[in-house]
Amino acid sequence: MTETTESPLSDAGGNQEPWLLEVRDLVKNFGGLRAVDHCSFRVERGTITGLIGPNGAGKTTVFNLITGFIPPDSGRILLAGEDIGHLRPDQIFARGLCRTFQIPREHGSMSVLENLLLVPPEQSGERWWNALIRGAQVQAEETRNLEKAREVLEYLQLTHVSNEYAGNLSGGQKKLLELGRMLMADPQIILLDEPAAGVNRTLLRTISDNIQYLARERGITFLLIEHDMNMVMNLCNPVIVMSEGRKLAEGEPDIVRNDKNVLEAYLGGQYAAAEG
Ligand SMILES: Nc1ncnc2c1ncn2[C@@H]1O[C@H](COP(=O)(O)OP(=O)(O)OP(=O)(O)O)[C@@H](O)[C@H]1O
Ligand SMILES: [Mg+2]
Repeated sequence: MTETTESPLSDAGGNQEPWLLEVRDLVKNFGGLRAVDHCSFRVERGTITGLIGPNGAGKTTVFNLITGFIPPDSGRILLAGEDIGHLRPDQIFARGLCRTFQIPREHGSMSVLENLLLVPPEQSGERWWNALIRGAQVQAEETRNLEKAREVLEYLQLTHVSNEYAGNLSGGQKKLLELGRMLMADPQIILLDEPAAGVNRTLLRTISDNIQYLARERGITFLLIEHDMNMVMNLCNPVIVMSEGRKLAEGEPDIVRNDKNVLEAYLGGQYAAAEG
């Protein structure tokens, strides 16, 4: 008898590769500017992989390409072996790939709880005929979603603001809310764009702890863009470095941090100024 497990980590396609996400030879031009320049890298299942690099290196653009917000000019994007390069953002989201934005995008005039309840993609209550024909089932699903939302809020220590307008949250709380919206979707992989930006030390530790816990206990894979080197060094392994649209280096955080090419990429402007 064959065993059929329904874990989000089990791979329906029979893909046994350790790589959950792979970008191959990705290129993106904006007019005359090449933002992503034949960039290739892979993200192993269960890792918290860091994506760092100087301002304008192309990191956010890579996220926009992976999540289907903008189309690549060429190259491939594979999720669990499946080519997702031609899919819409909602189709990619439905496959368990979620992202947060460099600037949080909460629905400011809705409550924190309502923001979470918006998320589940398969909510059958949105289809009015379902509501008519299968009222009880829809109601059960809504109850489940509500329970899940309450759990997520408790886990992120946001219960005390659950009825607050999301627009009134602090910058750091908005980051937590974004993470909460990801959790509502039962993701395989979460892409985080600068989770530490504008967040105080205490909250930063909460966010880091959450990420570590979710990777360890729930097997969620993370790819995370960050300029806060403390966070990257404590949390991420491996670390991928981008510069001028390409992958410049990759490896354990300590090795990458001391790599001559990486130091030059970060300090390049200063070297040039000192020499000039
Ligand atoms: N929609 C766009 N139209 C035109 N140019 C863009 C667009 N998006 C990004 N760029 C340009 O592409 C380059 C890469 O930008 P990107 O936002 O990916 O960098 P980044 O590595 O995320 O930088 P930062 O660390 O400052 O967030 C930059 O030169 C940027 O100005
Ligand atoms: Mg960016």
